[in-house]
Amino acid sequence: MEPNQYWKDVKVIVTGGASFIGSHLVDKLVTLGAEVIVIDNLSSGKLENLSLSKDKIKFVNKDLEYLQKDDIKELFKDQEKIFHLAAVHGGRGYITNHPADVCSNLAIDHHIFEAASNSSIENIVFASTACVYPTKLQHEIGSIYKLKEEDSNPLNLDGFLSADIEYGWGKLMSEIQMLAFQKQYGLKGCPVRFVTAYGPRENETHAIIALIYKAVERMDPYIIWGDGQQERDFTYVEDIVNGCLLASKQIKDCTPINLGTGERYKIIDVVNMIFKILGWKPMEIKTDLTKPVGALSRALDNDRANKLINWQPQFTLEEGLRRTIQWYIETHTKYGIVNEKKLLEH
Ligand SMILES: NC(=O)c1ccc[n+]([C@@H]2O[C@H](COP(=O)([O-])OP(=O)(O)OC[C@H]3O[C@@H](n4cnc5c(N)ncnc54)[C@H](O)[C@@H]3O)[C@@H](O)[C@H]2O)c1
Repeated sequence: MEPNQYWKDVKVIVTGGASFIGSHLVDKLVTLGAEVIVIDNLSSGKLENLSLSKDKIKFVNKDLEYLQKDDIKELFKDQEKIFHLAAVHGGRGYITNHPADVCSNLAIDHHIFEAASNSSIENIVFASTACVYPTKLQHEIGSIYKLKEEDSNPLNLDGFLSADIEYGWGKLMSEIQMLAFQKQYGLKGCPVRFVTAYGPRENETHAIIALIYKAVERMDPYIIWGDGQQERDFTYVEDIVNGCLLASKQIKDCTPINLGTGERYKIIDVVNMIFKILGWKPMEIKTDLTKPVGALSRALDNDRANKLINWQPQFTLEEGLRRTIQWYIETHTKYGIVNEKKLLEH
């Protein structure tokens, strides 16, 4: 089949489809001709994220945490594919300050795996994360180590498993749940591990948008969380979406894959790239060592994604930043002041 014809008329559910990443996925699926149902309770997602596709999709406002066994059975009837992105989620400040809330992901994921197992669904792509990896592999600034899928292997239940705070443990447990549903009920699909995704429609609790927000508001002294030396692998949202589509076509046996660029950048270097694109620089940059920063050095090995689904990231950080900054300026009112609450709450 022609690659572009693959999604034509395919019946797809996107949970969390009003989210930052989910809405880009929905737009792409609609463009490719899929019939899309979005299920989202709009707790952090927004209907305006779906403005490009709203007339071509079915939107269902439902809380996936509190469900009776058959609540979503009808919705799942006759569907072919699911992309499961609904989650209680946010940037480092959010997940650190909402440890109990993020644990509800275990219930959300359980309901989705169960409903998918009792339906005609052929494949489920589960939005997992680089937070499933042991933080002890990410302690050294300047490290060149790239996290490999086997560093957190949900098949290895007798071996060592470790993850990054409650959010990461929850996602790792859900990868284990997903495999359990495969073992017992033959569920097909795969967990896809995203790392520091960024792009238009993301909120200010995430690093890149927070840094752009502060620069657009001309914050001076400009404050960076941590000492700015922490390193991340930033992945542009369109690359993530393409990886999810390829994974849905090709992986059925719950093999997890990383979707990351393998490149790492220091936060201070990203900040300087943002200043350069905006053509502005503060008089002073200050660091705030009291704020949560997460792992010190994180990048993902993407060999498996390359081999299994022929995925490679297409966007450089500079190009992704340019697009994200342009979107931010076009869609946000400037107030000349930074509201700290926006950096911690959706
Ligand atoms: N953004 C990243 O850098 C990143 C990195 C790794 C993994 N992920 C994962 O990707 C997915 C999407 O992330 P995002 O950044 O777009 O986040 P987001 O907060 O924008 O998306 C989460 C979506 O889930 C919905 N939701 C939350 N609880 C729900 C519930 N009980 N019932 C129904 N819907 C509910 C929200 O309204 C929102 O639309 C999440 O699963 C997240 O854990 C994101």
